Amino acid sequence: MPPYLQVIGVSKSYGNVRALEKVSLSVNRGEIVSLLGPNGAGKTTLLKIIVGVLAPDEGEVLIDSRDVWASLDVKAKIGYLPQENILYKNLNAYENLLFYALLYGLSRREAKSRISELIVKLGMKEYAKRLVRTYSGGMKKRLSIAATIIHEPELLVLDEPTTGLDPHVRREIWSLIREQRGKGRAILLATHYMEEAEELSDRVYIIDKGKVIAHGTPEELKKKYGDETVVELEVKNPSEKLREALAKYSSRIVVDENVYRIYVREYEEILPKLVEEAIRVGAKPVSTRLREPTLEDVFIKLTGRRLE
Ligand SMILES: Nc1ncnc2c1ncn2[C@@H]1O[C@H](COP(=O)(O)OP(=O)(O)OP(=O)(O)O)[C@@H](O)[C@H]1O
Ligand SMILES: [Mg+2]
Repeated sequence: MPPYLQVIGVSKSYGNVRALEKVSLSVNRGEIVSLLGPNGAGKTTLLKIIVGVLAPDEGEVLIDSRDVWASLDVKAKIGYLPQENILYKNLNAYENLLFYALLYGLSRREAKSRISELIVKLGMKEYAKRLVRTYSGGMKKRLSIAATIIHEPELLVLDEPTTGLDPHVRREIWSLIREQRGKGRAILLATHYMEEAEELSDRVYIIDKGKVIAHGTPEELKKKYGDETVVELEVKNPSEKLREALAKYSSRIVVDENVYRIYVREYEEILPKLVEEAIRVGAKPVSTRLREPTLEDVFIKLTGRRLE
């Protein structure tokens, strides 16, 4: 089966600003894919093209193998959470959801049962009858996501779903998104938080200045572009002899009193050997610690800049 969402060679300019340059990507059913990039990278532009609110200059977007512009049936399969607010602040949660449900063509009856289900499931029961203007940021985001999934779309397109939320609420939103993946939805989200891309997504496309500069699973990206893993080996008796023994496994070793920082590529195989060497030369190992590279390291390596 072809991927549920296919973006093929999409380019877009605003006047002489080249916002996207031949971007291609795909998202399968049951998969969370992140578009990770700094401010102005072109994430929102790409999502708008995918959901069919903005036309590309070239390239195409296929949803379930059909062009997104083909018919309204195709658009009905999409749930889009824009970066900006979509809620009516002088209505309550129930009324906001009813508005979106009717907009998506649910009957009043279907709408009512779906709304009650979502209000309970998303833990909005206590405040469902309050006006949205009295909500916290987290409550608004939860309600916006409810509005985005009210018509049970097959494809979710989420633009920065957790920006500005505290870590606790962010995790709640993540678990909501994972639940949607569990239902087999195809999910594409834009983010500039590397933890979000790293922890939440199955695959990541790193985008910078309108171009996809790398893609893969977070693990693949870190293996390919991240710095080596750092093994921190702490010993009781440091010695020059130990450093020489460790040098067989890595060309980069930094000694800091009792701690040897050893930069390695395949730590799984090397780690026990490092400990064995320490025992063999009588250095008495006390502890080992691993510091893994992050997607931020990958971004820095690719662009020479930090993500933020
Ligand atoms: N309507 C517009 N008219 C002119 N230029 C635009 C318009 N929308 C976006 N741009 C420009 O296109 C580029 C990409 O913007 P876009 O909003 O897609 O980036 P983004 O990755 O979503 O950024 P952010 O992380 O800040 O949301 C930027 O240079 C931006 O200034
Ligand atoms: Mg944006």
